[in-house]
Amino acid sequence: MRPDPITVSFTVNGTTLSADVEPRCNLADCLRDGMRLTGTHVGCEHGVCGACTVIVDGEPVRACLMLAAQAEGATITTIEGLADGADLSPLQAAFRRHHALQCGFCTPGMLTTAHALLTREPDASEERIRDVLSGNICRCTGYVPIIEAVLDARASYAK
Ligand code: FES
Ligand code: FES
Repeated sequence: MRPDPITVSFTVNGTTLSADVEPRCNLADCLRDGMRLTGTHVGCEHGVCGACTVIVDGEPVRACLMLAAQAEGATITTIEGLADGADLSPLQAAFRRHHALQCGFCTPGMLTTAHALLTREPDASEERIRDVLSGNICRCTGYVPIIEAVLDARASYAK
């Protein structure tokens, strides 16, 4: 017998949203299926690829490993929250400038992870950026343009 759905509610990209989900539903599925925020990608579904990374209360989190219920009351930023309408964020614009994506599957997770890093450490070194992004798998780019884009975007995060 399926358990009764539960209602979860949290702030996503500045708006409070609710969804009725099964208690076992993870945050990635809740965002994608319950809230139609399909920019969060799901690859491995067990915490390895980083494609599903969203920012929860300032921390990059693998949304496939977090239950939606655990996000109750949290403040979440997804890839949809980085741009200002049609205007790309400086980090997104740097990705475009440096051709830091090909198929784009890893890109939401790369951007959210890098955004969380530069928000906290706007002067992050190349070594630090490589270390943090080493948890995000990209099968296309060879990583070099991604690192170049993040390095290029650092100035826009400086206080
Ligand atoms: S889908 Fe979450 S880490 Fe791969
Ligand atoms: S651009 Fe294709 S996996 Fe990264």
